[in-house]
Amino acid sequence: MPFPAFFYIVVLMNVLGIESSCDECSVAVVADGKNILSNIIATQVEHHAPWNGVVPEIASRLHVEWIDEVTSRALTEAGMPLADIDALAVTSRPGLIGSLLVGLSYAKGLAWSAGKPWVGVDHMMAHLYAPHLEYDIEYPYLGLIVSGGHTILCRVESMEDVTVLGTTIDDACGEAFDKVAKYYNMGYPGGVILDQLAENGDPTAFRFTEPRLHKGNHRYDVSYSGLKTAAINQLNQFRSEGACDSLENIAASFRKAAIDMLIKRVKRAVEDTGINRVVAGGGVSANRYLRKSLTEDESLESYFPSMALCTDNGAMIAALGYHRLMQGERSGLELNAASRVSGFRRSYP
Ligand code: KG4
Ligand code: ZN
Repeated sequence: MPFPAFFYIVVLMNVLGIESSCDECSVAVVADGKNILSNIIATQVEHHAPWNGVVPEIASRLHVEWIDEVTSRALTEAGMPLADIDALAVTSRPGLIGSLLVGLSYAKGLAWSAGKPWVGVDHMMAHLYAPHLEYDIEYPYLGLIVSGGHTILCRVESMEDVTVLGTTIDDACGEAFDKVAKYYNMGYPGGVILDQLAENGDPTAFRFTEPRLHKGNHRYDVSYSGLKTAAINQLNQFRSEGACDSLENIAASFRKAAIDMLIKRVKRAVEDTGINRVVAGGGVSANRYLRKSLTEDESLESYFPSMALCTDNGAMIAALGYHRLMQGERSGLELNAASRVSGFRRSYP
């Protein structure tokens, strides 16, 4: 049942956030949209490692087995019973549909049985909101959301007014990291290990050229499929004289090309819009080179989530849920899971 507006202003609001969109089973308790009382992240990494990638069937089964226990741990660590939770928030999109359905159904059951208000949130929006947990960030800003499934550059006037400036025309940035790592057997999870290897490599060993976009694409769009192919099948064409094919060199050169593409788009958008505040989120925002490049650029005011809040987690869901609940938003039992992102408006056709 919704509370009157004054209730939220004077009373601390504890939100339970549930995230199960991919291979992290995560539940958190966040007070007042800022104060993380618990953030349990049960990763399925070792269960997917033998297949070198996320197996959707395994992911949803593990969520079914784990979610109740993870929720209990989140409440215990926060030091409160369910009765002290004021509202619930859950990822309803985008992601693996089977995995999403587990978290969403669980949240619906819990909210209904305990008589609590709840809201379904878009997890890409939650990635964008993650840095708000740690910093007071003014609007407007440019948002850079980079994960395993999405690559979005957007202009954010408020959390209710987000306009997409550019996106990928093929693979997502994180997906390209994962595929290159998989091809070279760098290990699993690919993006994280490639980033580690890159630290000891020569980024000029292979000089990958930026893929050309097509006529219909926007100048803020990116493309990763060509770069991925170049790094996998056409190494010889891009090798600098005398460079060796070590995993470190391949990783460093690929990372530089992949991340420079993002940085270039961000700089372009800063120039066009006059907005120099940049907020990053999503798994790839953990990338060392991306973080270093943007934070060390003194012409920018950039915000990154701390490492634990870059990848999927319940705290960002609870925090965005708090924000949505404060706006008066509520979800009903008819809300369904969806594999696609929502709530982003495109600035061009
Ligand atoms: O946000 P996230 O946890 O899940 C999705 O919403 O997809 O992002 C996972 C993605 C994976 O593709 C992973 O390889 C990538 O983020 N990733 C990284 C790094 N850490 C995670 N990519 C590059 N460098 C990293 N340090
Ligand atoms: Zn994510």
